[in-house]
Amino acid sequence: MRTGSVNNRLWFKIKLIFSLLMVWYSLQAYSGFTNAWGSIVSASQSGWFVDMNRFSSSAHGSIKCEDCHGPMAGAGKSHPDPKVKDFLRIETKKNFDYQSCKKCHKNSYERFLSGEHAKALIKEQETGVMSKTGPAPICGDCHSAHYSVSHLSHAEINKAMTTTCGSCHPSQMKSYLANYHGKTAVNLGFDKSASCTDCHGAHHCTSLKEKETALKSCRRCHPDAQPQFADIIIHDSKTDLDNKSDSKKTGLKTVHALSLISLIFIVMVLAFFYSHSFLLMLRKIHEKLRKHT
Ligand code: HEC
Ligand code: HEC
Ligand code: HEC
Ligand code: HEC
Ligand code: HEC
Ligand code: HEC
Repeated sequence: MRTGSVNNRLWFKIKLIFSLLMVWYSLQAYSGFTNAWGSIVSASQSGWFVDMNRFSSSAHGSIKCEDCHGPMAGAGKSHPDPKVKDFLRIETKKNFDYQSCKKCHKNSYERFLSGEHAKALIKEQETGVMSKTGPAPICGDCHSAHYSVSHLSHAEINKAMTTTCGSCHPSQMKSYLANYHGKTAVNLGFDKSASCTDCHGAHHCTSLKEKETALKSCRRCHPDAQPQFADIIIHDSKTDLDNKSDSKKTGLKTVHALSLISLIFIVMVLAFFYSHSFLLMLRKIHEKLRKHT
């Protein structure tokens, strides 16, 4: 009898540990699929102090400081004056003339000039007004000049760039990460899935509001896509509704109405079953108490 109860207890413990492990494993798998992991090289690492260890192991480690910064003194330049009140307080990106990147990265530079971001940059400079989205990005908003590393995999670049793009386009990042492409590319590191820049381009940043342009972009990976394919809603956030093309606006409103209806339905079903069980429990307790007295 006694050994039997010991065995039972052991068996119970094994089952308990096993089910806890299952729960832990499921949670891990779920969080891996839903949460984005941190970035690898984020552009905001720039500052006034240069970590020479990291600089020398970066893609630019073998380049002289002067190749980008020009000579420290001469040609009307002088070393910043430490006595000036805003010394070290100016944003370093504002200080830098990114035309010096063109010398070695002509392609990237010229492709950038033909994209949406350069258009936004010109508009910003002409009107002096920043768009609602934020400042128009230049090289330094997406790359860290001192610490960028070469030869990253597609998946690694995707992860880093999703955070970078997301710093100015947060609602698009959110919808992307909630989407099939984002979940597989960023969370699962699936190399063939689409990142922001696979659809929009990295330097020649392209707006995909035109259906034909969007279709062309999808066809790079979905070669048999029919024109209706471009009607699929990729960014489903409500906050950017004004930004959407008219056809998508109607679609989005429908999607949001449907998700609201299904949410209400789920809440009602849960409320019904929980209150049902609760009432049943009350009744059982009531019956037990009655039997006692
Ligand atoms: C590939 C080009 C490149 C190289 C090489 C480079 N820098 Fe920079 N540096 C930049 C850019 C771009 C910025 C401004 C944006 C930023 O911080 O990323 C900057 C900013 C700085 C700043 C902040 C003040 C400022 O002028 O805006 C310092 C200080 C600096 N660099 C020092 C150095 C030193 C020292 C070296 C050599 C060991 C070096 N840099 C090499 C591109 C470069
Ligand atoms: C004197 C030439 C030179 C200048 C100026 C220069 N770069 Fe580079 N850059 C290089 C070289 C060389 C590499 C390494 C390429 C490699 O390893 O394949 C590189 C690599 C890079 C990479 C990593 C590329 C990769 O393989 O993923 C980025 C990003 C980059 N540079 C951005 C910039 C930016 C932004 C500027 C301007 C602030 C700049 N570079 C200025 C020469 C230069
Ligand atoms: C909006 C973000 C963004 C801006 C702005 C940007 N880049 Fe890039 N850049 C990227 C992304 C994303 C990649 C990686 C794309 C890839 O691997 O095809 C990349 C890759 C690179 C590379 C390495 C691969 C290549 O195409 O040669 C270089 C060099 C580079 N960028 C330089 C620049 C320079 C110079 C500028 C400024 C004119 C600039 N970038 C502006 C996002 C940006
Ligand atoms: C520093 C802020 C900043 C960063 C970083 C940035 N963007 Fe932008 N982006 C803008 C601004 C500003 C506009 C201009 C459009 C506007 O006014 O809303 C814009 C426009 C765009 C557009 C065109 C929108 C349209 O109307 O169709 C796309 C697409 C886009 N960005 C994608 C990206 C991607 C992809 C990345 C990352 C590789 C990125 N952006 C990084 C600020 C940024
Ligand atoms: C599968 C392709 C795809 C991916 C991946 C993707 N986008 Fe888009 N994006 C689109 C399409 C298509 C549109 C046009 C949507 C429309 O007409 O409403 C768009 C529109 C945009 C716009 C314009 C405003 C809007 O919401 O319509 C911005 C900004 C943007 N995307 C940024 C991003 C950023 C940032 C990422 C990554 C976090 C990203 N996109 C990932 C396809 C994509
Ligand atoms: C860089 C490649 C790439 C680009 C560009 C791309 N996709 Fe995808 N997409 C994939 C891969 C990979 C899959 C998963 C494999 C499959 O089902 O074919 C996928 C799957 C999908 C799915 C199925 C998701 C599911 O739930 O099964 C849809 C819908 C989709 N993509 C829409 C689009 C649209 C719309 C565009 C253009 C705006 C686009 N994709 C651009 C790579 C891409």
